[in-house]
Amino acid sequence: MAGEADNGTPRILMFGPPGSGKGTQAALLARRLGVPVISTGDMLRQAVAESAPLGERVARIMASGGLVDDETMGEVVAERMGHPDIRSGFLLDGYPRTVPQAETLELILQQRGEALDAVVLLDVPEGELVRRTLNRRRDDDDETVIRERLRVYRNKTEPLIGYYRDQGLLRLVDGDRPVSEVAEEILTALKGEG
Ligand code: AP5
Repeated sequence: MAGEADNGTPRILMFGPPGSGKGTQAALLARRLGVPVISTGDMLRQAVAESAPLGERVARIMASGGLVDDETMGEVVAERMGHPDIRSGFLLDGYPRTVPQAETLELILQQRGEALDAVVLLDVPEGELVRRTLNRRRDDDDETVIRERLRVYRNKTEPLIGYYRDQGLLRLVDGDRPVSEVAEEILTALKGEG
């Protein structure tokens, strides 16, 4: 597994709590590796902005800090994974967030004869997560909603750490450092040196 991220078709999952820097690092890494980012948060926000039927269904859930249901998310991701740009590999940001979502992803990849190469877990203390998200001021970055997103992360998403550790895919990276240092550590971790 180690080093597979260099094989031309890296399939990498960016993982961590809200505000840990998944989106920031996914964008940097995508440029370095030449692969697209699949950000479910961005896809949902776009659907909301366009008042698409999906957006109308999910807007309230997102605004409250809850999770959109697994079935809807499975459809969104399966559709995106059908696009031809994914053949070069991808960086997933924000999916999966529950064990059933992880199982759906595995199935989608299995059907294509593919598998994840690595899961990058960004480790950032809770106080810093709140500080970063409050500074950003996205629509769902109000303090009550941030606390709810963190609570949902601990309950529903954190169990995936064990799921991916058991598969030997987890790469733990200290995300509480300047953006460029985190990016370098991710690249090192993906080469199996981290
Ligand atoms: P999503 O957009 O995925 O939000 P999130 O997981 O809460 O993550 P964030 O975007 O808040 O943080 P991030 O880790 O990407 O950090 P970022 O790089 O932005 O999801 C939003 C909502 O959509 C969910 O709540 C849910 O309702 C729904 N949803 C999405 N996917 C779903 C799914 N699979 N299932 C169900 N529902 C789903 O950085 C944060 C800030 O910190 C930025 O301002 C950045 O500039 C700054 N920053 C980044 N790195 C550093 C650094 N090293 N030092 C200092 N500042 C930094």
